[in-house]
Amino acid sequence: MKGIILAGGAGSRLHPLTRVTSKQLLPVYDKPMIFYPMQTLIDGGIEDILIISDPHNIGNFVKLFGSGRDFGVKITYEVQDRPEGLAQAFILGKNFIGDDNVTMILGDNLFVGDDDFLKAAIKNFEKGGRVFAKEVKDPHRFGVVEFDAQQNVLSIEEKPDKPKSNFAVTGLYIYDNSVINKAENLKPSARGELEITDLNNLYLKEGNLDVKIYDHYWLDTGTFDSLLEAGNKIAALKK
Ligand code: DAU
Repeated sequence: MKGIILAGGAGSRLHPLTRVTSKQLLPVYDKPMIFYPMQTLIDGGIEDILIISDPHNIGNFVKLFGSGRDFGVKITYEVQDRPEGLAQAFILGKNFIGDDNVTMILGDNLFVGDDDFLKAAIKNFEKGGRVFAKEVKDPHRFGVVEFDAQQNVLSIEEKPDKPKSNFAVTGLYIYDNSVINKAENLKPSARGELEITDLNNLYLKEGNLDVKIYDHYWLDTGTFDSLLEAGNKIAALKK
């Protein structure tokens, strides 16, 4: 299993905090944000990790992590010239992934409270896609899962005006090697991005998407309030 941390993007929702630095380098209590998704992959047993970021910030991640040896992992770096979508990571990461499966985590997603959940999810992963859903109060900000009465997944909708459930798809995705081919065949959405939700719906149509409920603490730190909340939560846990 290879690992990817996607840590680029414009960060425009957090201006002026992100005008000169990357969102994923902002502090969450006592560490740069990206330390948390990095730790999640390391706890998952992943030792070969690709960090993707934009041309302006990629050098700072090299300064922070270097070869990865101090963290017990091997780190490779890739530039995303423009923020053309989450699913582009698998095209940029094609050579890195090779013939392996891959787990991608967003550099602004924090999974806290169970150090072993990813290891368990990877251990019995064979093929298809596996994602993690979490009940939230503001589902319209996320990819949202639609379930039928038997809790089967019917669809995933990206930032719907009228969410069909309160379950958001979190920024952690486990895929088999067919993800490269699937990503290469995606068409950009109306907002000009290769959407991870389109990728998940392809796996769903094949009958190969496993949606697990993540029942610990999860935060997407994409707004001022969620960034502050994450810092407070980590501080409280540490103390
Ligand atoms: O956090 C989970 C959500 O992440 C999912 O529920 C959504 O389905 C998924 O689309 C995504 O939504 P966001 O609104 O959070 O996506 P955002 O554009 O903010 O990008 C997420 C992170 O990925 C962010 O840290 C920036 C980075 N990024 C984004 C894009 C579009 C890149 O590095 N490159 C990109 O091209």
